[in-house]
Amino acid sequence: MLKDKKVILGVSGGIAVYKAVELLRLLTKAGAVVHVIMTRAAREFVAPLTFQTLSSNPVHTELFNLISEQEIGHISLADRAALFIIAPATANIIGKLACGIADDLLTTTVMATKAKVLIAPAMNVNMYTNPVYRDNEERLRRLGYLFVPPEKGELACGWEGEGKLAAPETIFEAAVAELTPKTLTGETVLVTAGPTREEIDPVRFISNHSSGKMGYALAREAQRRGGRVILVSGPVSLAPPPGVELVTVESATEMREAVMARVGGCTVVIKAAAVADYRPLEREQAKIKKQTGELTLRLVKNPDILAELGRLTERPFLVGFAAETDNLEAGAAKKLEEKNLDMIVANDVSQPDAGFNVDTNAARLLFRDGRMVECPLMSKKELAGLILDYVTAECSCRRQR
Ligand code: PMT
Repeated sequence: MLKDKKVILGVSGGIAVYKAVELLRLLTKAGAVVHVIMTRAAREFVAPLTFQTLSSNPVHTELFNLISEQEIGHISLADRAALFIIAPATANIIGKLACGIADDLLTTTVMATKAKVLIAPAMNVNMYTNPVYRDNEERLRRLGYLFVPPEKGELACGWEGEGKLAAPETIFEAAVAELTPKTLTGETVLVTAGPTREEIDPVRFISNHSSGKMGYALAREAQRRGGRVILVSGPVSLAPPPGVELVTVESATEMREAVMARVGGCTVVIKAAAVADYRPLEREQAKIKKQTGELTLRLVKNPDILAELGRLTERPFLVGFAAETDNLEAGAAKKLEEKNLDMIVANDVSQPDAGFNVDTNAARLLFRDGRMVECPLMSKKELAGLILDYVTAECSCRRQR
């Protein structure tokens, strides 16, 4: 989404300047063309050379620079921006912007830009809660400036509380979300992710290798595209994407309850979770002791959540996944038909870099009308984007009917 997008990163003075270096790295890694403006105070903390090296662009520092001002540098910088980020933003910079003071390159360029401005404040907790600061932030919010609130924690000044610059990943996510076209506005998308755990006794369970990466990538991308996203997740070690409604579950039965309780308000359901097909007939109350001979576990079938969704009379747009090790297309086509789905992602989990617990995936998208789209090996983030492109197109066709 950031590929070749022009982003201005304004850096004002504070101990958190070092985090802006990490933010710059994330932005350039995502393909953005970043121009950095540093205030005089920012340059006291980190030298411009660091930002220049990582952005591969000269760092802008002076308003009255004879060379860049030949072409009115601050205006051309302002005009070129798709997004303007200020991180860290001090109380001083925010105060100046709120009052229309433009007395250095950063404030002047912000005043001149038509781009959205994303502000990530960082300051002492007493400054952050000061009514003067609060008024300034409020005024800027009313004028359409976007804020990534600071985190709570131990501050460099020794105080504890709100004021720590948000994590670079959080600011990056807000930037991506801002630049992503809102093609899923008005849709409520429920995504299931991760494995389920079927308990045998208090310390043992049956599960699988699902990491949740595929489902979380779908939830993140749907949220970026403006959808309201409900993420029903089995036990994973991933942080939920910002802005999604997270519902955590353990077993298939719990996942079924969570999904069925929410499906009424959903327009799209994407079932990327690897739900256990069976669970132990009985869960032992105490830990099973080691025995001399063999141990036989009796398993019973779990509810098939997706099939139940397919049987609803008023049902959302249904996307299933099919994890197959052989007969990929035939197996997936059978599930598409039997579970009454609109689309299925046939996932060849026999490939080493595809499927469970890796960052990449390869799949075929199968539709009810017989269409098939081949998706070669790509990152799960990219595959999530591709799946949602098709979901969006199908949803808009449905709306027009
Ligand atoms: O989580 P990752 O590590 O990123 O791995 C991603 C993945 C491999 C788990 C994912 O890409 C994937 O293929 N998910 C589906 C796995 C699966 O359970 O496939 P299945 O063929 O057994 O099930 C078919 C469909 O029915 C799935 O959408 C599944 O969610 C659903 N199902 C299955 C059983 C059941 N009891 N209830 C269900 O709803």
